[in-house]
Amino acid sequence: MALPQRSPLAKHWMLDSNCVFLNHGSFGATPTAVREEQRNWQDLLEAEPVRFYEDLAMGFMQDARKSLASMLHCDAEDLALVENATTGVNTVLRSLEFNEGDEILVPDHAYQACRNAIDYVASRWGAKVVTVNIPFPIDGPQVVIDTIIAGVSERTVLAMIDTVTSPTGLRMPFEELVPLLEGRGVSVLLDAAHGIGMVPLYLDNLGASYTTSNCHKWLCAPKGSAFLHVRKDHQLKIHPLTISHGMTFPLGDTTRFRHEFDWTGTRDISAFCSIPAAIEYLPTLVEGGWSAIMQHNHDLVVKGRKILCDRLGIEAPCPESMITCIATLRLPAGGGAGIPLHEPDPLHQVLQEKYNIQVPVWSWESPKGRYFRISAQLYNHVDEYHYLAEALAAELGC
Ligand SMILES: Cc1ncc(COP(=O)(O)O)c(C=O)c1O
Repeated sequence: MALPQRSPLAKHWMLDSNCVFLNHGSFGATPTAVREEQRNWQDLLEAEPVRFYEDLAMGFMQDARKSLASMLHCDAEDLALVENATTGVNTVLRSLEFNEGDEILVPDHAYQACRNAIDYVASRWGAKVVTVNIPFPIDGPQVVIDTIIAGVSERTVLAMIDTVTSPTGLRMPFEELVPLLEGRGVSVLLDAAHGIGMVPLYLDNLGASYTTSNCHKWLCAPKGSAFLHVRKDHQLKIHPLTISHGMTFPLGDTTRFRHEFDWTGTRDISAFCSIPAAIEYLPTLVEGGWSAIMQHNHDLVVKGRKILCDRLGIEAPCPESMITCIATLRLPAGGGAGIPLHEPDPLHQVLQEKYNIQVPVWSWESPKGRYFRISAQLYNHVDEYHYLAEALAAELGC
């Protein structure tokens, strides 16, 4: 099969032109201009390391937080820059104190690494992890709301909710869930790894206790850029995973929260410094700014999903309103019995090696099946989904 057409915008990314890249969801992909920006920051650092860290770094990080805050509709002072969403989740969980028997609520569609962090912390404090099962296929968001609220008890102190789930690509009704949970005295840790650049976020209005999001996914910032937003009333108890000078540094006109998170030891902050460039750059590629980018990616993934469903004879597992820029589908019946979790699925290798397609394929228990997930970003073209559909049809004999 001849390789599919690429979007004219693909030239702005560093992606290999022979790769049909349908997995923006895992690690994102950074445009060339944003990578150049990052290199400039690294060059500036190495030109005068002491001046960079002692005189300039705090200001650069403040610029990054301000730029994020304008997109997130929140106070820049409530944002900490962290390397990734896993760190954001761990930072919160490992700062909190729990009583024996306290309940932490988590849907079964949560990202496994973050679920591991919950299990680890819960076992240390004697807290109980309550898993709620979200159906998949699913009819609509109300089922999610009802299922999660039904899992709340008098002992529930924390709930980890996704903006968009990783295994199932479902847009959670987090705008409804956060006030419902917080109103019942349950602090929400919003796992918005798939968040900024993918769904509009109004953090001050939302009122979640804690929100973490990757900037290297849908904002297309360099790898290792993410934020943790902590509501003001929780800031005194949340500390970075690495305790450093910030714990004792004189406060001046800032807060302990700011000091502690801004300095966690010597590290490469070039990814953070490049966040403003990423926020400004992507909207130069299309008319209509970030909302147009989100709409474009949504429309494209909806088209891609339909192409795959039609060609493979499978049903879409959720309404279009519940997908953003990623979509999970279950392989058709001929798709095999399933490979144990943690083992690479051979179909993923075949797609990569024989067809140059990068798309995740895995087996999952909830419900049991073999799944794959497509994504859409400005660099994708509708032909790429046709190409994937033909490759899957050939391999599965549909
Ligand atoms: C829902 C969700 N949470 C957390 C993460 C972890 O992101 P990272 O590996 O950048 O920390 C991911 C990554 O794909 C995710 O999808």
